[in-house]
Amino acid sequence: MLVSMRQLLDEAAQGGYGVGAFNVNNMEQIQAIMEAARETQSPAIVQASRGARSYSQDRFLYHLMLAAAELYPEIPLVLHLDHGNSVETCKSAIGLGFTSVMMDGSLLPDGKTPSSFEYNVEATRKVVEMAHAQGVTVEGEIGVLGGIEDGHGAGLDGLSHVTDPDQAVEFVEKTGVDALAIAIGTSHGAYKFAKKPTGEVLKMDVLIEIHKKLPKTHLVMHGSSSVPKDLQDLINQYGGQLKPTFGVPVEEIQLGIRNGVRKINVDTDNRLAITGAIRKVFAEKPEKFDPRDYLKPAREAMQKVVAQRMTQFGQAGHAGDYQPIPIEEMAKLYAAGK
Ligand code: G3H
Ligand code: 13P
Ligand code: ZN
Repeated sequence: MLVSMRQLLDEAAQGGYGVGAFNVNNMEQIQAIMEAARETQSPAIVQASRGARSYSQDRFLYHLMLAAAELYPEIPLVLHLDHGNSVETCKSAIGLGFTSVMMDGSLLPDGKTPSSFEYNVEATRKVVEMAHAQGVTVEGEIGVLGGIEDGHGAGLDGLSHVTDPDQAVEFVEKTGVDALAIAIGTSHGAYKFAKKPTGEVLKMDVLIEIHKKLPKTHLVMHGSSSVPKDLQDLINQYGGQLKPTFGVPVEEIQLGIRNGVRKINVDTDNRLAITGAIRKVFAEKPEKFDPRDYLKPAREAMQKVVAQRMTQFGQAGHAGDYQPIPIEEMAKLYAAGK
């Protein structure tokens, strides 16, 4: 059964841990997450971007997720829309069976242009109304993340639109979101920081201030890959051309988790793990041409990263803590104002 993200995050808040949200586009990535969840006994959030939905003809992805729920019944499992760009996109995800959606109204529907506060409130509020009626969770975003990758993002540096804590409070009050993504200097993709980030570029102080003002709101950290050096090196060792770069150190994420962060978005680290494993096979065994010869090591490499993050974020061991609430029940709870 696919369950509500709200329940997973409420449980995480109670247990004082964070839950990784990992992006997928295909079967191997879903399998890697599910195996990591079983290995570490973790609840799991699987998320698909608009790009992933289009790449996979989203019904394929949805049915793979039903298979995951069937094959791993002990894992509380969420299917979440990452960076929904409009009310319509969120509506179609809910219609398909996603149990959680992100309405990213920090940008206009083009996915590039920073929007006004009023636009963001209005679009997000509409999605909350529509989603809660079905028991579906909503994540909103206030402030704009840095960078641009694959057509998403404003192309600005991470510090151009850091979240204003007072505006965050107003946004949560006006929209009723279940979870709030904030901008604290991170960006999507591999190229986040030129050196290990200090407080100058990674604004954990802003995150802490937001948590103090909104102690009950589940905070979300986007752009939270750590971009490990060993994965960069592996890719470059086998013909890749990554430039030196730094991600978000795990200890900073753990500081976030101690200060209200409940959902941590990770995509790039898994992309790096998959690509490194495939490059290695191609370089070391050039005679191979059966896709399973490189997709299996790729899947294993992603599983390793995901299991490590699940352990570092503290969700490991919590899969069996609670009975999943069906989303129809969640709809009733929302309607009753609970
Ligand atoms: O939001 C960024 C995620 O890494 C998803 O990326 O839009 O290329 O699928 P994507
Ligand atoms: P990374 O590019 O740091 O993995 O961030 C992913 C993300 O925020 C997806 O929404
Ligand atoms: Zn993101």
